[in-house]
Amino acid sequence: MQSDSASMGFRCLGFLLLLFLTQANASVGHYSTSLQNEFSVSWAADHVNFLRGGQELQLKLDQNSGSGFTSKKKYLFGNISMQIKLVPGDSAGTVTAYYLSSEGVNHDELDFEFLGNKSGEPYVLQTNVYASGKGDREQRIYLWFDPTKDFHSYGVLWTPQHILFMVDGVPIRVFKNNKAVGVPYPESQAMGVYSSLWNGDSWATQGGLVKIDWSHAPFVAAYRNFQAHNSFNERYQTDMLSPAEKKKLWWVKKNYMIYDYCNDKQRYPVPPPECTINL
Ligand SMILES: *[C@@H]1O[C@H](CO)[C@@H](O)[C@H](O)[C@H]1NC(C)=O
Ligand SMILES: *[C@@H]1O[C@H](CO)[C@@H](O)[C@H](O)[C@H]1NC(C)=O
Repeated sequence: MQSDSASMGFRCLGFLLLLFLTQANASVGHYSTSLQNEFSVSWAADHVNFLRGGQELQLKLDQNSGSGFTSKKKYLFGNISMQIKLVPGDSAGTVTAYYLSSEGVNHDELDFEFLGNKSGEPYVLQTNVYASGKGDREQRIYLWFDPTKDFHSYGVLWTPQHILFMVDGVPIRVFKNNKAVGVPYPESQAMGVYSSLWNGDSWATQGGLVKIDWSHAPFVAAYRNFQAHNSFNERYQTDMLSPAEKKKLWWVKKNYMIYDYCNDKQRYPVPPPECTINL
């Protein structure tokens, strides 16, 4: 009798445990995908780590090598983002590149490049847009938070009408479809998602003056929560920026922008056409 109720108790416990595990599994599957399924290592497998069952990925840079990864899938338009925690401490000379790119000649590319700095000095986020092989559209901003303390979301909202570069949901840049005035627009070549961590100390920090201090290696950047969606709210199919988005974009431009190719008179005595068209 006693052993019977004991075994009943165990079975009950077992059932509850099973239920709990199934639920836990389901919710993990729901909220995030394993980065191991989405990405493959493109550079230096011994400098790339998958952690927490593939929920987190780390790239490492030391004197032997940098490292990188590539998405297995390609995307044509989409709402694509990832959370990144940048190299902490003395990251001077390091560059964490995170971008979408098509392959072959006349490629399209949407770039985020995080330029490291001495401890306590601000990172610079440089963005660029290549369309049909032509880039030279750099913009640079400081961030309104320390990107090494926590994970923050970086991504693009790429529609046939415009490309929004987003940081934590805040638009920091817009590249509109200005085909009508002869500016090529990325709209026919699918792009993969890429990231790499490398030594850029010939140019990255204070224009190359500050070199990497290898005594602080290895340098590590961490990634999680990759999201790629092909559907947008209806508004994004037809409309331009909302008033709230415009306001945020101007807030970033006013307070955090340190370089804009559109305002670089030496480089462009006549501003490129996409620079003179109003938002
Ligand atoms: C690094 O810090 C210096 C001094 O605050 C700043 O001028 C520079 O823009 C920062 N970022 C980079 C990437 O050089
Ligand atoms: C894009 O995706 C993010 C989450 O991944 C979501 O918060 C946001 O609402 C999406 N934006 C649009 C326009 O669909």
